[in-house]
Amino acid sequence: MASSVSRVPSNFVRPIGDRPNLQDVQSCDASSIPLIDLRDLDGPSRPDTVRNHGVEEEVVEKMVDVSREFFRLPESERMKNYSDDPSKTTRLSTSFNVKTEKVSNWRDFLRLHCHPLEDFVHEWPSNPPSFREEVGEYCRKMRGLSMRLVEAISESLGLERDYINKALGQHGQHMAINYYPPCPEPELTYGLPGHADPNVITILLQDRVPGLQVLKDAKWLAVNPIPNTFTVNIGDQIQVISNNRYKSVLHRAVVNCEKERMSIPTFYCPSPDALIGPAPQLIVHPHHPPLYRNFPYSEYYEKFWNRGLSKETCVDMFKLSSQ
Ligand code: OGA
Ligand code: NI
Repeated sequence: MASSVSRVPSNFVRPIGDRPNLQDVQSCDASSIPLIDLRDLDGPSRPDTVRNHGVEEEVVEKMVDVSREFFRLPESERMKNYSDDPSKTTRLSTSFNVKTEKVSNWRDFLRLHCHPLEDFVHEWPSNPPSFREEVGEYCRKMRGLSMRLVEAISESLGLERDYINKALGQHGQHMAINYYPPCPEPELTYGLPGHADPNVITILLQDRVPGLQVLKDAKWLAVNPIPNTFTVNIGDQIQVISNNRYKSVLHRAVVNCEKERMSIPTFYCPSPDALIGPAPQLIVHPHHPPLYRNFPYSEYYEKFWNRGLSKETCVDMFKLSSQ
């Protein structure tokens, strides 16, 4: 696991053409990332997120605190949850996929499946003692918020409000608790290199330490944490279902030499057997032909984990060849 050393070990060092170039990152201002107020989502004006998202501050604070406590447990205690098998539904691991990748990332993470909660909660860490209860409560809140956001996205495409939720089958919800220790040479490595999330949408909670960046107009833009807000990433499955009307966002996490950082993404996912493809209502010949073939989500998910993270998104592998 990433640890406190004075130099970055060589297995973390990126080739020169693939480094963060931190001095070229733009800082974000209010106009570059839309800040949406969800308060009226169910009212007549249906405006824009993630203030008034309906998740109490206390639930969020407890989630962050118990996560920090987990990563402060003695290593031997934490390691009871360790596995490098991506198919395991509860596991602590490091980097991204240690079995397949050549260069490591400066990250440890605990990954949990969260829906239906009763199927998974008994696998979760039992230390810290309040972990299951507090994380469970946060997951329930995230489920409600994900459903509302996906309904809004569905409607924004001119589809039935429940079209996307229905297309996902018995949906899944996963969560990661990412822990990025301070890094002696943040210019040489990543917390997570550029990638698009493979799922439907991701609701990301950041602690107070910056590190998230998104690619906008071919430049990396810092998306610094704003208290009591979430960052919502469009994932690859929305890009496919919307037939490219929405684009999944390329994003990455960089590290810094002073402070540890935590981020907690909730991944809203299709059922593994859901057949994903462009919504038929959005296909209009000849101007809007389907851009992707249909595929079971399990096929996508497996490719995502096995090919490693890279700037080209996994979604290109599902494009119809005539495009
Ligand atoms: C992820 C991710 C970003 C962050 O876990 O998929 O993109 O800020 N995390 O940690
Ligand atoms: Ni991501």
